[in-house]
Amino acid sequence: MDLRYRKTIIAGNWKMNLNAEEAKRFITELKPLAARAKWCDIVLCVPFLQIPAAVKAAKGTKIAIGAQNCHYEPSGAYTGEISCGMLAEAGVKYVIVGHSERRRDWGDTDKLVNQKVLAALQAGLRPIVCVGETLEMRDNGVTLDVVRMQVKTALRGVMLEQLRRVTLAYEPIWAIGTGYTATPQQANEVGACIREVLRQNYGARAARGVSILYGGSMNTGNAYQLLAQPDVDGGLIGGASLRTESFGKIIEAAEQHE
Ligand code: PGA
Repeated sequence: MDLRYRKTIIAGNWKMNLNAEEAKRFITELKPLAARAKWCDIVLCVPFLQIPAAVKAAKGTKIAIGAQNCHYEPSGAYTGEISCGMLAEAGVKYVIVGHSERRRDWGDTDKLVNQKVLAALQAGLRPIVCVGETLEMRDNGVTLDVVRMQVKTALRGVMLEQLRRVTLAYEPIWAIGTGYTATPQQANEVGACIREVLRQNYGARAARGVSILYGGSMNTGNAYQLLAQPDVDGGLIGGASLRTESFGKIIEAAEQHE
C-alpha cells in the first residue's frame, strides 16, 4: 500500500453466507473498530437479500455495503437479475464484478464483466473488478499475460474521470478458499503489472490513485505481510470475513501500516 496516493480498502465477500440477523450482529460488533480505523475503507459485500438489513445497520458508520454481482442492463426482462440502479437505490456503494466463481459457474466472460463495470459506473457504484489466473496458467508462465488481458477488457470504455471509482482485485483462482495464499512477492508482482496496464491506458497519475486489492485465503496470519507490499492496497476477503474477530484483525493489520 502507498497511503500517499490511494486508499486502503478492506472488503469482505460473504458469498452465500450469513442471514439478516447475523449480518446485523456482525456490523454491530464491527462498529467500534470501524470507528477507530483511520486509513482503511471498510466494505462488506453481502448477499442481495441482506442488503437492506446491512445498509440499515451500517448507517452512520464507516462501513460501506457492497453487492456481489449485478446485471448490466438498467431494467427489462431478465428474470432473477438485479440492476445496478436497484443496488444504488438500496444504498449499495460497491459491487464485485467478475469474481472467479461467477466466471466459472455463471459464464461471466471478460466481455460481460466489461458490460457490468460500465453499468456499475453509470449507476454511480464503485466496481471491484476481479482478475486472476488458474494454477495451470501460472504453471505455464502466462499469469501476467492473462491478467493484463482481463484488466484491459474489463476496463474497455471506462473514462479517465471514472477510473477513480474503480478498484481492482487480484485473486489467483488457486488461492481462493483453498488455504493456499500467493506470497507477498507474487501478489505484488501482479499488482504492479495491473498498475502498469492502468498507467499505459490512463497515465501515471491516474494509475497511482487506483487501489489494487489482493484476494485468496487472506487471513489474520498473512494479511500484514501482504499489505506491506507497495502494490497491494487492501484485501478482498472471503472465509476470514465471516467472523468479526478475524475480519477485525485484518483491518487492524492494515491500520498498522501508516
Ligand atoms: P477466500 O475468498 O478469502 O475465502 O479465499 C476470497 C474471494 O473469493 O474473494
